Amino acid sequence: MWGFALTEYKIAAIPGDGIGTEVVSAGVEVMNALAERENSFVFHVDHFNWGGEYYKQHGLMMPEDGRDQIKDHNAILFGSAGHPDIPDHITLWGLRLAICQPFDQYANVRPTRVLPGITSPLRSVNNGELDWVIVRENSEGEYAGVGGRAHQGSPLETATDVSIFTRSGVERIMRFAFKLARSRPRKLLTVVTKSNAQRHAMVMWDEIAEGVAKEFSDVTWDKMLVDAMTMRMVTNPKSIDTIVATNLHADILSDLAAALAGSLGIAPTANLNPEREFPSMFEPIHGSAFDITGKGIANPIGTFWSSVMLLEHLGEQAAATRLMSAIERVTADPQFHTPDLGGNARTDEVTQAVIDAIRGTNI
Ligand code: IPM
Ligand code: MG
Repeated sequence: MWGFALTEYKIAAIPGDGIGTEVVSAGVEVMNALAERENSFVFHVDHFNWGGEYYKQHGLMMPEDGRDQIKDHNAILFGSAGHPDIPDHITLWGLRLAICQPFDQYANVRPTRVLPGITSPLRSVNNGELDWVIVRENSEGEYAGVGGRAHQGSPLETATDVSIFTRSGVERIMRFAFKLARSRPRKLLTVVTKSNAQRHAMVMWDEIAEGVAKEFSDVTWDKMLVDAMTMRMVTNPKSIDTIVATNLHADILSDLAAALAGSLGIAPTANLNPEREFPSMFEPIHGSAFDITGKGIANPIGTFWSSVMLLEHLGEQAAATRLMSAIERVTADPQFHTPDLGGNARTDEVTQAVIDAIRGTNI
């Protein structure tokens, strides 16, 4: 092999806790197999052992200079944060949000599709008929971290969690969502809100949506209260294409979406900094799942699909398409379904099947 140089991508792998370590190592194996197959780029993967175990030793989820260590990587592959011995708000704020927020990964993109071979719990939905992408505002809103507690433990105890919505924050996520909707065949966007009950920030959210919509006259859009949206997702799923919602609303809707698509084990996420001032981060939606940790049965598909999004972000569209079709070829065969999908397959069997599909040895 000579005559041209391979593009080198630096990837920061942060497996985190629980099954995070199992699915990220599967993801790295698959990405390396893909790079070998494409023969036009290579991955240089640095592993960072941050998370719950690191916290137990150091009192921090990641080192003080952790972000400096990964700021020059091309992308981050994340597993999951969450530990049975550590409160959830510490693991979340100490690692995932400590990366997402300072790296301004304000657009969280969560595609949902019923993949071949997977059965949706919705009777009315066949493969290919549920194809959504949820855009989650990922930098402010209900996850702004503003609030406090006073008089802890006394009957006078007071606690607040204040949602913060800024005009610039809402405008940029609306614009991102309209652009994404425009790039998809149906050019259809649903703006999720709760402006009947939340009469300040959510009303501003609606007003900004209306303003941004004027820039996208080719996109059809509607507005839906979040409670009604949960019903529509179940009763009229085919009426939906792209969805934009606040940080918390989209958090909840995306679990529903994942369940309707067959399993939380499949669902991927991209935490994007669209301006590329910082690396973006890719991760399965599922958590650390300590009930199945170490058993070798975690579904790695959510991580593989997240790797597809990582490749798209790097501009490696051909490789992304190849990986996605390898994934679909494997999900189509029930012998490669892990227990979350009702099967008996193990993580390493699914991983090997995807690698075989990439290499083209099983087609
Ligand atoms: C998600 C997760 C996280 C969130 C948890 C693990 C804190 O549910 O990415 O959807 O709420 O953001
Ligand atoms: Mg969630």
